[in-house]
Amino acid sequence: MRRDRILILGGDGVLGSALAAAFAARGIPVLATTRRPDRVGDDRPFFDLGRDSPDCLLPPGLRLAYLMAGNASVEACAKDPSGTRSLNVEAILKAASHLRRAGVRLVYPSTSRVFDGARPRMSAEDRTHPISEYGRQRAEVEERLGQAGGAAILRLTKVLGPRWGLMEDWRDRLLGGQPLHPMRGATIAPVLLRHAVDALMRADALDEGEIAQLSAPDDLAMSEVASLLARHLGLANPGIHPQEPPLDPQGLFPPYSSLDMGATARKIGMAPLPPSRAIVQEWLETHLA
Ligand SMILES: NC(=O)c1ccc[n+]([C@@H]2O[C@H](COP(=O)([O-])OP(=O)(O)OC[C@H]3O[C@@H](n4cnc5c(N)ncnc54)[C@H](OP(=O)(O)O)[C@@H]3O)[C@@H](O)[C@H]2O)c1
Repeated sequence: MRRDRILILGGDGVLGSALAAAFAARGIPVLATTRRPDRVGDDRPFFDLGRDSPDCLLPPGLRLAYLMAGNASVEACAKDPSGTRSLNVEAILKAASHLRRAGVRLVYPSTSRVFDGARPRMSAEDRTHPISEYGRQRAEVEERLGQAGGAAILRLTKVLGPRWGLMEDWRDRLLGGQPLHPMRGATIAPVLLRHAVDALMRADALDEGEIAQLSAPDDLAMSEVASLLARHLGLANPGIHPQEPPLDPQGLFPPYSSLDMGATARKIGMAPLPPSRAIVQEWLETHLA
């Protein structure tokens, strides 16, 4: 039997839904799970990661599965470590083990937050050292997937999808004549959703246990992001006043998040991304009227 079907756990998420659409556009058969009864269909099986056995997700011909389901909120993980851990660590590893036993290859989307954010451009070979609960959960899954026989891992920095709540909030404030107070020292090294989807599709070429990384090449200060936004809105004298960061014992605001993509270009044939400034600019032009 030909194995050519692809399974996406978490088919309604930002990444999962865009990935499913990209495979479907190429004529590749894809099953994308949902937990919304009104969306259930032949290619949208119902699946609740915390409740259902992954055995119900093993249709004939399944070749590759993307483990995209879970609680992807850094703040939610900090607020409820044990609740989010049971889903993001235990349930995802259980699903992974069922799928692997059935001979299905796995791709796991991890995060730059497996590092502590003290240095820029971390390499895939650097030791992980998470300081947020979200990062700890992701680092543990990376490690336990490796011990259990492996999955291809793609670490991503912040992915800019169609919605970016902070930018929408900042736009409203600026247009309402209010000042912005970006956090001093805070940066991003973002990627666009299309970059993430491209890299996830290419991650199929990774060996089990191999790690690839997707990131802008530099860390852009949030005060610079605020200036780009103001210029995009045509505001000549916006009030942008960086403020001191709050105490951050839970590691929610690491100073750096960029990842070194050097080895990734070789592993999955993906060219380095443009600078953060160009990525933010493209997002503004595409998504923020
Ligand atoms: N976006 C980023 O910047 C980024 C960066 C690095 C890594 N990642 C990782 O990539 C993955 C996807 O990210 P995302 O941004 O697409 O997240 P997202 O939009 O929050 O999507 C998460 C998906 O998981 C599903 N889900 C949540 N709880 C579930 C459960 N109990 N059973 C089944 N499905 C469940 C959600 O379903 P509902 O829609 O029904 O809630 C949703 O489809 C996450 O693991 C995230 O940590 C994301």
